[in-house]
Amino acid sequence: MSAESSIDVQKRIAAEAAIAEIEDGQIIGVGTGSTVNYFIDALADHKHRIDGAVSSSEASTARLKAIGIPVLELNYTGDIELYIDGADEATRSLQLIKGGGAALTREKIVAAASKRFVCIADASKLVNTLGAFPLPVEVIPMARSLVARKLVELGGQPEWREDVTTDNGNLILDVYNLDLTDASSMETQINQIPGVVTCGLFAHRGADKLILGTDNGIEVIE
Ligand code: A5P
Repeated sequence: MSAESSIDVQKRIAAEAAIAEIEDGQIIGVGTGSTVNYFIDALADHKHRIDGAVSSSEASTARLKAIGIPVLELNYTGDIELYIDGADEATRSLQLIKGGGAALTREKIVAAASKRFVCIADASKLVNTLGAFPLPVEVIPMARSLVARKLVELGGQPEWREDVTTDNGNLILDVYNLDLTDASSMETQINQIPGVVTCGLFAHRGADKLILGTDNGIEVIE
């Protein structure tokens, strides 16, 4: 078995620290990605403490079911106490870019339904300003070209992630070089383009707490 890389250790310790956020009897929201996969692994030893999970992707649903955690429909759970998810970039003011794994829309829905959003990430995800990571935008297929032109008008350079169809049957445009100094305003402007399902900016509803794994242990920002 190959040794765990430093970045994998950082993801794992952040994910394991998030277990302490769970209170007995809760339904928890579970995000998507390699850091969340560590969280699901750690959850296996605590599954009898929770009533179930709402999942943000088919991939996480499969992993949750594989360890025997009931996956519940958000339409029947009402609001969720706690959401655990990763990020592609995070600032100290807890605004995020998400969607590197193309699960941004369901992630945004579960985050919106959750009273607390605890983000888990390795130290490389912490940035001063969002935007070095291209911003994922989920788009209805027939609007791809229209949305791309509108994104250029907003100052970005969109690239179609051609090998990806989202869990919702849509497409992803990755947008380079957007000025995200005012991330909330850009989130609003992009989400108003007809054909956009949502963008991966989590500025209006950012995280409530960021648990970062570092080479020196855990750093918590809230
Ligand atoms: C999934 O669409 C993303 O929002 C992920 O949360 C994000 O890409 C983080 O993934 P990793 O934990 O794999 O870095």
